[in-house]
Amino acid sequence: MRILITGAAGFLGSHLAERLLLEGHEIIGVDNFSSGQRRNIELLSEWPRFHFLEADASRPLDIAGPLDWVMHFASPASPPRYLKLPLETLLVNAEGTRHLLDLAVAKGARFFLASTSEVYGDPLVHPQPEGYWGNVNPVGPRAIYDEAKRYAETLTTAYQQARGVSTRIIRIFNTYGPRMDPQDGRVVTNFIVQALKGQPLTIFGDGCQTRSFQYVDDLIEGIRRLMEVEYHQPVNLGNPEEYTMLELAQLVQELVGSRLPFVHQPLPQDDPRQRRPDITRAKTLLGWEPRVPVREGLARTIAYFRELLYTSPEVSS
Ligand SMILES: NC(=O)c1ccc[n+]([C@@H]2O[C@H](COP(=O)([O-])OP(=O)(O)OC[C@H]3O[C@@H](n4cnc5c(N)ncnc54)[C@H](O)[C@@H]3O)[C@@H](O)[C@H]2O)c1
Repeated sequence: MRILITGAAGFLGSHLAERLLLEGHEIIGVDNFSSGQRRNIELLSEWPRFHFLEADASRPLDIAGPLDWVMHFASPASPPRYLKLPLETLLVNAEGTRHLLDLAVAKGARFFLASTSEVYGDPLVHPQPEGYWGNVNPVGPRAIYDEAKRYAETLTTAYQQARGVSTRIIRIFNTYGPRMDPQDGRVVTNFIVQALKGQPLTIFGDGCQTRSFQYVDDLIEGIRRLMEVEYHQPVNLGNPEEYTMLELAQLVQELVGSRLPFVHQPLPQDDPRQRRPDITRAKTLLGWEPRVPVREGLARTIAYFRELLYTSPEVSS
């Protein structure tokens, strides 16, 4: 297959591209490096079947030749990143999704949207099944991301219904692993980088808020399975095992071998207290469930960051 992936320089886009290259497909990666990393593209460029286009996915893309899939993963993804790029985040998920859906129509391609558990906002239902509509403050600080993804889901559904595009929507819950940007401000990278640098770990609030953490290989397997199924409703992909921030911090410290006391900072506004996927739909539809235990996934991620901090002085500074 010939597959366009936006956000290919990012954490998830680069893992997805690699998996599809390994299967023998041809990949056109698009990225503007707003939060992605050039080293991810250098790695993918070792494959002759990988082509790269440096471009803004908010604007129409000029792609020659046929396409089997348009897979939209471009978007700032961590709160510090999207808070720095509010309009860009809205545009790539709104205008970008529209242009990419038009591209899918023009090429007769299928369309895949990387949505997020953030569409559930600060959920009033726990765990969150796909049928829950969410609790989002439309003018809160997180809305630029949450509402943009909600609109992207609506647009994708409208193109499926009105234009007959074969679409897929996944709601990704916190995912971690090698190739995350060490400076993107997500909790797993923050904890690992702080522990490896011998710094105290920063906990927001009392640390009793929970999240669930999915290892990247499990997510990519879920994506790959959904590509094979003609199903247009959203599908949660995440690991239902729930951790408090304190438990996660303690586990990272144990695996790295650091023992400094934690530093507490105030909880950011509208930070969800709990987040855990109900994955019944993915289990039934795809026969999928996460396989990599958090302890093992964290150990692999720590090994990656240890090497990165050792070999890239700019990251460790
Ligand atoms: N990692 C997670 O836990 C998670 C959870 C929920 C949803 N998602 C979604 O998955 C997708 C990928 O996230 P990620 O974790 O790999 O983040 P990431 O920041 O590592 O990757 C996103 C990539 O998109 C690129 N990008 C952003 N705006 C662009 C634009 N206008 N034009 C071209 N490229 C652009 C960035 O440069 C980056 O390479 C995003 O859509 C994100 O919302 C991720």
